[in-house]
Amino acid sequence: MTTKGQLLNYLKSNKEIWISGESVSKELNVSRAAISKHISTLKKAGYQIDSLKGKGYLFKESDILLPEEIYEELNTKTMGQSVVFFDETDSTNTRARELAENGAKEGTLVIAESQSKGRGRKGRSWYTDKGEGIFLSLVLRPKLTPSEVAITTLMTAVAMVEALKSVTDADPAIKWPNDLLIGGKKICGILTELSTEMDAVNYIIVGLGININSREENFPEEIKDIATSLYMETGVKYHRKDITKRFLESFEYYYEILNRRDFGTILDAWKANSDTIGRRVEIDIFDRKITGMVEDIESSGELKVLTDDGDIERIISGDVRFV
Ligand code: BTN
Repeated sequence: MTTKGQLLNYLKSNKEIWISGESVSKELNVSRAAISKHISTLKKAGYQIDSLKGKGYLFKESDILLPEEIYEELNTKTMGQSVVFFDETDSTNTRARELAENGAKEGTLVIAESQSKGRGRKGRSWYTDKGEGIFLSLVLRPKLTPSEVAITTLMTAVAMVEALKSVTDADPAIKWPNDLLIGGKKICGILTELSTEMDAVNYIIVGLGININSREENFPEEIKDIATSLYMETGVKYHRKDITKRFLESFEYYYEILNRRDFGTILDAWKANSDTIGRRVEIDIFDRKITGMVEDIESSGELKVLTDDGDIERIISGDVRFV
C-alpha cells in the first residue's frame, strides 16, 4: 500500500481525535514533511482534516465518493469494482459511453461530484447540486435483446428504492417508468442509453441522479415545486457513499436475476415499490395525451392503461402525471 493509503487508514482509525505529526511519522516510518505533503493532497481530494500547530491533525468523517471510499466494504462481484471518479465532468453518461466504446468492463462505475451537462430523459437537462447528490452511470453488457432493455430501467429504480429503504427512514415510491418520488415530489431520475447491433445489445449505460443532501434554496426556481431531496424529506443528512454502495449491491442482486431472464421477479419487486398501478393518470406520449386508469405493467416494461375512451393502450414511453 502507498504511504498516502497507509496515512489515510491511520487517520480513519483515529477519527475525530487530534494526532500529532510526530506520532504519525513514527507510526508510518516516514518524515514529517512527507506526512504534511500527503495531508495536503488528501485535503485537496476532499477529505476534511484540520491541522493545528502544536496539536497535529484531526480527521473528520467526510462523505466523498473517491474510488477507494467506494471499494471499502463494497460487497459486489462486478458492480462498482472499477470506479472512474470525476470532480467535475459534463455528463457521467457521456463518459461511461466513451469508456464502454473502449471496452470498459461490465459494472464499471462512473461517478461525479458535479456535471456541467447532466442529461435527463427527452433531451431535458438534469440539475446537479455539487457534492449534495449522487450522479452516476454504470456500464452494462447484459444478455438481453434490444426489446427487453426497458426492464433494466425498472430494475434500477427497484435497486435504488431498496437501497434507500435499507439506509434511511425514507419511503420512496416508483412512478413509471423511472422516477422515484417522496410525497409526490421527484428525488431520483434514471436515464438508460444503449448501443445495439442488429438484434444484440453491445452495451447499456444506466445513468442515475438522486438528490441526497440538497436544500430547497439551492434548487433552480423551475424545479422547486416538483423536486425534493432526502434531506428535505427526512431532516437527516445521509452519507452518499453508503447509499451508493447499498445501491450497487442491490443492483447486482437484481441484475443477476435479469440475466437469468426471470423478469417476473423484477416486475413483482417493481410493483411492490410502485404507486402507479391502480392510479388515474394523464400521459404525454410525443404528439398526444391520454387519460385513464393504469391496470398493470407488462413484462416488456410497457404500462397497460384503460383509457377514458374504453380502449386498452400499452405505453412504452411517456410522461405520467397522477390526476
Ligand atoms: C430523468 O429523470 O430525466 C433522468 C435523469 C438522469 C440523470 C443522471 S445524473 C447521472 C447521469 N448522467 C447524466 O447526464 N444523466 C444521468
